[in-house]
Amino acid sequence: MSLAGRDLITMSDLSTDEIGSLMETAGHMAEAIGFDSPAAGQTFAPLDRILATCFFEPSTRTRLSFESAMLRLGGSVVGFADPKASSASKGETVADTARMVSGYADIMVIRHPSAGAARVAAHAASIPVINGGDGPHAHPTQTLTDLFCIQRKHGRLDGLTVGLYGDLKYGRTVHSLGTTMARLGSRCVCIAPEQLAMPDRYLDEMEEISGERPAQVNTLDEVLGELDVLYCTRVQAERFPSEEEYQKVAGVFVTDASVMERAPESMIVLHPLPRVDEVHPEIDEDPRACYFEQAGGGVPVRMALMSHLLGLEAPRSSFAGFGGKHETRSEPGRARPQAESETLPASAIGECTNDKCITRQERFLEGEWYKLPGDPPRYVCAFCEEALDG
Ligand code: NCD
Repeated sequence: MSLAGRDLITMSDLSTDEIGSLMETAGHMAEAIGFDSPAAGQTFAPLDRILATCFFEPSTRTRLSFESAMLRLGGSVVGFADPKASSASKGETVADTARMVSGYADIMVIRHPSAGAARVAAHAASIPVINGGDGPHAHPTQTLTDLFCIQRKHGRLDGLTVGLYGDLKYGRTVHSLGTTMARLGSRCVCIAPEQLAMPDRYLDEMEEISGERPAQVNTLDEVLGELDVLYCTRVQAERFPSEEEYQKVAGVFVTDASVMERAPESMIVLHPLPRVDEVHPEIDEDPRACYFEQAGGGVPVRMALMSHLLGLEAPRSSFAGFGGKHETRSEPGRARPQAESETLPASAIGECTNDKCITRQERFLEGEWYKLPGDPPRYVCAFCEEALDG
């Protein structure tokens, strides 16, 4: 098996074995760069590979850790951090940008405010495309970073209880993490006020995978004592329909010293960052507060990912017979349809109604639906993966 030449758009693009293999390589990369003991860090030989960072939305950690990862690998970086400074501001499509970048770089990471934009880029590009966050949809490299930290702290990724806390509606990190933890054999509990609840599609997917629907509670204290991981998230102000709606939920959850007093000794606190007021700095020195270390792990994790996608590192092999761009693996219990599933054009059944979907923004993009088996069959948008009729 090889990840060489493939894209990473959602965590469903990776089998559980491939996730394990990436974690293993990330461990080697961490050692090589001296993640735990800087004095032991090595220098990598120059590498004739270029990463393009195409960021249509603000970013600090994702972009800088990707850049740092490529530079640490010995390669180079080109890119833009602001769509206003790219031809997107002149009306260029995501597809055209991605096609063009394929001529300038060997691998690209894209972040975009529309769900499904990274899928559009992957279809148009001839180089591996990595999703650095697409609207409220998915953020697979954050999940790999989260897994790396959880694995280091708890020594395993299965049999854990993970509290997903905060904005579970618009937060893309919890969508990718929740479904992945379910695949890996851990249990998620969703902690959010009703307006920010985890969308049904992800609860359905987690239930389909694990056979158990995640519990949903409104307050942290209902489940705090059971948690191995408390995964805090920011309220995604930029995705709210109005400032007024945002104000109703701003500042409603805060993890502070009083929460930590009631929390289990072995519970770690994670946050993809940036934080606004959901995690009080007064707990930063608590040994259970792991979010800065978590963010630091983004470098070895992204080094591992890019080396696999560029075919620089032979992954641990237990599968054979796949690889090559745009191929994806099927795994039982996964809700997202795979490459072989039947697709129908939007002209046959209608446009996607998700107002955050890239098909609503991108010119010359014909919508597409995956037909999921069942009676009656279900249809999901091939870009944002939202079901037909919500
Ligand atoms: C997250 C994102 O962009 O989704 N940040 C990140 O990549 N670490 C979380 C957020 O913006 O709240």
